[in-house]
Amino acid sequence: MQNLYQISLYLHSWNRWIIIVFGLLVLWHAWKGSKNQTPFPGHYKPINIIFISSLHLQLLIGLLLYFVLSPITKAALNDFGAAMKDASIRYWAMEHSLMNVIAIAIAQTGSILAKKKSTPRLAHRTMFIWTLIAFILILLMIPMGIMGPERPWFKL
Ligand code: HEM
Repeated sequence: MQNLYQISLYLHSWNRWIIIVFGLLVLWHAWKGSKNQTPFPGHYKPINIIFISSLHLQLLIGLLLYFVLSPITKAALNDFGAAMKDASIRYWAMEHSLMNVIAIAIAQTGSILAKKKSTPRLAHRTMFIWTLIAFILILLMIPMGIMGPERPWFKL
């Protein structure tokens, strides 16, 4: 169990970089696409797919950590009231997890709504706005000392 915890934490930590790199690529292509009115999603369809898939993977590992593997959230689930009074436990049990679930739902919604738009320009713009909101939330909730504890940027 301890090994699985370390492996999951490791995957969760590195997958964050796939999310950041592909999130930036999606934003860049959506921005350019809305300016140049290129077809939607055009050649960046695989980039969107990798971005959304990496978010789904992050959610899956996050839920596994939250409910099964992490000693921090397991302790929080045993006594949620006490956990909410401790800022460092509350960060994992509430802020990081809940805000990231919301961010992932926002990114997914944007990608679904964009496909339904009548013109490429509207589709790119929809993709850009929803992805930007999700991306900012994700960045704020990465544990790098901005809004909570600090964890390694590159877990070795
Ligand atoms: C895009 C979304 C997410 C990003 C970028 C992200 C990023 C991270 C990072 C960088 C860590 C620290 C890993 C380390 O120790 O080096 C972490 C830990 C953790 N995350 Fe996430 N996460 C995301 C979503 C989620 C979600 C949706 C959940 C739960 C539903 C979650 C639950 C956790 C838990 C429980 C821990 C570990 C706490 C411990 O140390 O035991 N994460 N996350």
